[in-house]
Amino acid sequence: MALKNLNKITSDAVRIQDNTFRDGHQSIYATRMKTEDMIPIAEEMDSCGFWAIEVWGGATFDTMHRFLGEDPWMRPKILKKYIPQTPFSMLLRGQNLVGYRHYADDVVRAFVDKACEIGIDIFRCFDALNDFRNIETCAERIKDNGRHFQGAVCYSLTQGRLGGDVYNLNYYIRKAKELEQMGADTVCIKDMAGMLSPYDAHDLFVALKKEIKVPLHLHTHYTSGMGSMTYLKAIEAGVDIVDTCLAPFALRTSMPAIEPLVAALGGTKRATGMDLHKLLVLGDHLERIAPKYNNHLANHKLSIIDSGVLAHQIPGGMISNLTGQLKEMKALNRLEEIYEEVARTRKDLGCPPLVTPVSQIVGAQAVLNVLFGRYAKLTNQLKDLVLGLYGRTPIPINPELVEKILVNYKRGSEPVTGRPADYLPPEIAAATKRIGNLARTDEDILAYILYPATMQEFLQKKYGADAISGAMAESQPPKKVAA
Ligand code: CO
Repeated sequence: MALKNLNKITSDAVRIQDNTFRDGHQSIYATRMKTEDMIPIAEEMDSCGFWAIEVWGGATFDTMHRFLGEDPWMRPKILKKYIPQTPFSMLLRGQNLVGYRHYADDVVRAFVDKACEIGIDIFRCFDALNDFRNIETCAERIKDNGRHFQGAVCYSLTQGRLGGDVYNLNYYIRKAKELEQMGADTVCIKDMAGMLSPYDAHDLFVALKKEIKVPLHLHTHYTSGMGSMTYLKAIEAGVDIVDTCLAPFALRTSMPAIEPLVAALGGTKRATGMDLHKLLVLGDHLERIAPKYNNHLANHKLSIIDSGVLAHQIPGGMISNLTGQLKEMKALNRLEEIYEEVARTRKDLGCPPLVTPVSQIVGAQAVLNVLFGRYAKLTNQLKDLVLGLYGRTPIPINPELVEKILVNYKRGSEPVTGRPADYLPPEIAAATKRIGNLARTDEDILAYILYPATMQEFLQKKYGADAISGAMAESQPPKKVAA
């Protein structure tokens, strides 16, 4: 089976992971692609020779039940029928799974088991702070299930190029080694903001190739416009696998497109061996369905790249959150100030990489800082971050701020240093009781733990008007269902 050979790369060919069905539409079409639009090209995708196809994780779980009326667990199951050969990968935010907070270990184990059951073969695991204690539990469980554990290091910078005191070459080598020691089958550099510049990519992969035995994978976004150049230099330096999307779902804040990469490498010793013509036919299909997603496409500028990201280093997803938040507060005209404040807030908070969920915490705080004065208003998530409940930040948080932020905080005023999940009691039993009859399967219960409010609504729709939650059932006995 293909899965067994995933970490044995025997030729020089660059391997491609397709991201059209996950990060592609997540980046540029607000994660709104429906499963029914994937099915018409699924079989063809299976015959392209991708190393893997990413189909799940990231924001898909959230948008599927919230906006698309789809049961999130169903997509991999459905697609597997059409794509039996190519391994499926998913993006897993470590202890955050596919939600926005840390879940207890019992939830993490049950989620990984379930993801394996529905057909996920490769798990790309990352932690927003690169604190790998937060991916220990899922890594162990993935290995127990005999699946592929890909450890990812979030790529971040504090200056224009790789280097400086925090995110220098040694940092990435150290982090990659940590992952290898944890049993990673492949190691990925996850450049969520498209900040990795071509020559830094070259230096980085030359160095990693010397130090790391397992295959190396690079994930970048086209946001800054450097993505394709970055891939080329990383490929010259020996990277084994890269992530791309089919052209209609590529570029902008998405991945580099596959077609030009396949063409550019043709005839070289790193040629992908993929059939360009086949890819063009798949692209044509997407061109036909893409118009219905066009309303999600950011069209406020002519430029499809955000050259500003080279200066402010804010990932695309975070920018749309910030503009959304500012619109709501009728303060969109203050975006430039917010960009500057994001950098200051981030430095105060220990220079974390700007990726979910930490990017939202830093972003929301930066907005509050600009509109109401610095740290005059605080979110509870920020307090948790400062308390250490998300893990260890790359450098210590400004100590004066720690005291100021944690004063009178109900969860504690003295920062903790242990593995964050060790402070979380098991969750499944209590949640099962809480949701009551409304949940009919263990999938329902897990989804409810991840998204309590929206999942409750979803389950009510799924099971019809007779389905009522445990909380409601206490005051109102369930109606008899007519036979
Ligand atoms: Co991405």
